[in-house]
Formats: sequence, structure tokens, C-alpha cells
Amino acid sequence: MTRIGIIIGSTRPGRKAPAVAKWAYDIAQKRNDTEIELVDIADFNLPLLDEPMPAMLGQYSHDHTRAWSAKIASFDGYVFVTPEYNHATSGALKNAIDFLYHEWINKAAGFIAYGGTMGARAVENLRLVMAELQVATVRAQVGLSLFTDFENFSVFKPAEMQQKSVNAMLDQVIAWSGALKPLRNK
Ligand SMILES: Cc1cc2nc3c(=O)[nH]c(=O)nc-3n(C[C@H](O)[C@H](O)[C@H](O)COP(=O)(O)O)c2cc1C
Repeated sequence: MTRIGIIIGSTRPGRKAPAVAKWAYDIAQKRNDTEIELVDIADFNLPLLDEPMPAMLGQYSHDHTRAWSAKIASFDGYVFVTPEYNHATSGALKNAIDFLYHEWINKAAGFIAYGGTMGARAVENLRLVMAELQVATVRAQVGLSLFTDFENFSVFKPAEMQQKSVNAMLDQVIAWSGALKPLRNK
């Protein structure tokens, strides 16, 4: 079964990302074509990148990197749950991505973003990063608005139609993750 990791891409106290990720996880759990897991980058206590060797070499010197590497390597594809910070993704998520290299390659990814403009610029930013890591990003994406999917800009109350967008995005991530499998087995 295709394994998809839903990555919680924000670490600040009071963050909205866990509620958004849990909602997506519950939707994904109802499907029978994927094995899904929530991955909170906060659980890995990653400092600002502190590996002396480039990730491309895979020579990790810290336990936190090895734990993060093992988790990310275990998936066929990813769903990034990202806030928009200054027209980009969060520094915490970019930093976590930068720790690794081979673990990401020849996999697929989709995005669930939120912000004043539905996190659109955070996703565009992540698509560029993913291209360098040879991750195939799917077209369908979930954009949540702080105005209409959160009550008082804080409590997550997604519009009903958003569930359909999650499944449309998952359809593509699961299909592409499977299609890329022969490349990962080389
Ligand atoms: C440092 C920072 C920069 C932000 N920049 C933007 C932005 O450029 N565009 C936007 O729509 N929202 C922006 N926001 C609002 C966030 O999207 C909103 O606070 C969101 O809840 C943050 O996600 P989190 O709660 O999971 O950390 C910014 C928030 C922070 C903390």
C-alpha cells in the first residue's frame, strides 16, 4: 500500500497546522488506497541545520538527523501542511527539508496551505524547493482561507467543499507516488 506522510509544517506555540493536518488525516483515513501517517516536525527537535556534510552525501552526524531521515525515507509520498510566512513557507519546514536529500527523491507531494490568500505563495515557494529535490508536485492543492475556513481567524472550521479538495489532491499524490515506484527501486 502506498505510504503517505502528512507533514505538519509549523512549530510555533499556538500554531494552526496540527488542526489542519489532523482534519486531512481523518479524511485520508476513510480511503482504502493509502496508509497515512501524521508527521510533526516539532517532534524531531531539529535545530537550524547543523550537519557539517551536505545532505546529498547522506553522512549524518546527529541522532536528530538520523531519526528524521528514517521517518521521511519510510514514505512513498507527502502532503505538506504549510502556513504562509512572508510569502513563503515557514522557516521551520524549509529547514527540515534541507536536512535531507535522497530521502525525498522520486516521490510525489501535494500541499495544504493556509493564510490570508489561502497560502498560495507558500505553495509556489515549496514547488520550487521540491523541484530541486526531484519531488513531483501535483497540481491539485488545498487552499484554506483565514477569512472563511477559520472562525475569528483562529479556530479551524473548514468549508464543506474543502473535503473534496483534499481527496482530489490525495488522488493525484497517491497515483504519482505509485507511478514513481520503479524509479525508487533502481
Ligand atoms: C512571521 C509570519 C509571517 C506571515 N506572513 C504572512 C503572509 O505573507 N501572508 C499571509 O497570508 N499570512 C501571513 N501570516 C499569517 C499566517 O498565515 C497565520 O498567522 C497562520 O496562522 C500561521 O500558521 P501557524 O499558525 O500554523 O503557524 C504570517 C504569520 C507569521 C507568524
